[in-house]
Amino acid sequence: MCGIVAYVGNRTAREILLEGLKRLEYRGYDSSGVAILGPQPYLAKTVGKVAALEERVWKESPEGVVGIAHTRWATHGKPTETNAHPHTDCSGRIFLVHNGIIENYQVLKKRLAASGHVFRTETDTEALVHLIERHYQGDLEAAVQKALLDVQGTYGIAVIHADHADQIIVARRGSPIVLGIGKGESLAASDVSALAQHTDQVVYLEDSELARLEPGRFSIKTLDNRAVSRAATVFAGGVEAMDRGSFPHFMLKEIFEQPEAVENALRGRVNHSEGVAKLGGLESVLDRLQQARHLIIISCGTSYYAGLYGRYVFETLTDMTVETELASEFRYRKLNMRQNTVVLAISQSGETADTLAALREAKRKGALVLGLVNVVGSTIARETHAGVYSHAGIEIGVASTKSFVSQLTILNLMALLVGRSRDLSYEEGASILRGLERVPDQIREVLERSSRIRELAAKYCHAKHFLYIGRKYQYPVALEGALKLKEVAYIHAEGYAAGEMKHGPIALIDPDFPTLALVPEDGSYDKVVSNIQEIRAREGRIIAATSEGNTKLGQLVDDLIEVPRTHEILTPLLTVVPLQLFAYHCAVLRGCDVDKPRNLAKSVTVE
Ligand code: G6P
Repeated sequence: MCGIVAYVGNRTAREILLEGLKRLEYRGYDSSGVAILGPQPYLAKTVGKVAALEERVWKESPEGVVGIAHTRWATHGKPTETNAHPHTDCSGRIFLVHNGIIENYQVLKKRLAASGHVFRTETDTEALVHLIERHYQGDLEAAVQKALLDVQGTYGIAVIHADHADQIIVARRGSPIVLGIGKGESLAASDVSALAQHTDQVVYLEDSELARLEPGRFSIKTLDNRAVSRAATVFAGGVEAMDRGSFPHFMLKEIFEQPEAVENALRGRVNHSEGVAKLGGLESVLDRLQQARHLIIISCGTSYYAGLYGRYVFETLTDMTVETELASEFRYRKLNMRQNTVVLAISQSGETADTLAALREAKRKGALVLGLVNVVGSTIARETHAGVYSHAGIEIGVASTKSFVSQLTILNLMALLVGRSRDLSYEEGASILRGLERVPDQIREVLERSSRIRELAAKYCHAKHFLYIGRKYQYPVALEGALKLKEVAYIHAEGYAAGEMKHGPIALIDPDFPTLALVPEDGSYDKVVSNIQEIRAREGRIIAATSEGNTKLGQLVDDLIEVPRTHEILTPLLTVVPLQLFAYHCAVLRGCDVDKPRNLAKSVTVE
């Protein structure tokens, strides 16, 4: 979603700001803008790609050493040049970029307009820049601090003033801001990827804190004026992960990184001799976790489908009752939470607003709240009582891929940790661990079939609709496969529990409405074959993803994708891979912008 980058230092700001914006493009946006303090303050905004802004800025901008920039994902007001950030006050000397939503902006706007402030945009953000102007009496930091005390809602902001060309004020509540401190220069961004190529010394701002950045220096205080002392930490995320290498798209690169993602998820976490997992991040809560009777998994998007899979895994390997809930629904339910409930928040980014709000609600209700998060130091990682990092590496493609298989891997480890303390046998535990360790090479085998899957994509990519079906462990995979196709190839796709198909979607089946059936030779095999027969009887075309060497499907299906055999519970780690590749190749063949699908954002920081 929206992205912020800010720079103050000894180098020309525009290059660093534009480069930072390009690093943030993957998060999704519809317009962008930059403000630079030179002899005269400079402001430029464009709708569409950052490349258009870049062209203008290179032609027009002064060589100032302080500036702020933004990619906007419209919430309040259309994606127009006027509504793009930075926003300015009446004097045109204060510039503000903002992520989040100012919930009381209408009240503020009315009050400010009544005292003479002139509003030019449809955004909620503009109210804040006028509010800062109103409080400004020569000290920008004090003005921002006072203004924020009147604000309800969420924000990550960066503010500059033409009379203070040596400082940037940043603040956060509910929307991340990270500082980067270099030699003679300081940066701030909403995402560490926008500053990691300049410095590895980073400081994460907490909610209700504001910071003043000067070249090579920073100070932090809380909104209620307490000084905060926080040292910079080293960011070790690996800048190389932000380059595509020889791959045409990040999505494909990340699909191909899945064997390593699983290896990294397993590294140091497998205890063969006991048939159990070692998860250091859960040690502090191990007793509570092992005594817990109820598990609620909350998440959004792809992480939600990982959670649905997690439900089957925990139910199979432990004696816990398990619910999986969309975070956006969970947060508004009346929760009658039983004692000994554990809530597990799954999130790649660790910043998804709904997941964060849901976990806060669960904490308030007394649950033990755990996280399964990829981004180290993210808000969800910090706000949970304990958790496990996926260590999948930075994921740039908006459509999540390697994070998903990594989440599935870790859900097995977590369930083993609980299950082995109850009645799960050593043999079963050890067999799953052995299976997990074979998964990376098995994914490599599937990846070798990428060109065959491309051929299938060429055959089917003109379909307007697609049905994905699967049972039990394969049901979440069907949902995830359909989501991938929607997200990147813009083909309408429905993921369905195979058994539910006859209660509706079967009415849609005809020769133009193909089905992708997940039918590995597992306990549900015969049932799914019956569903395939029902589709066949209605002249539906079928691609089946099945176990290697299964020759029984014969004439029943049009096309086959084979995946290696594994422990039944682990099959989704393999069957999801051809579905990701299928969506990817369909998208490329249809000319879609795979890494930046329209209207989508990588990290959804608004409700
Ligand atoms: C967005 C992304 C999805 C992601 C979802 C949840 O919609 O485009 O790829 O699955 O958010 O994100 P999270 O970071 O919480 O896993």
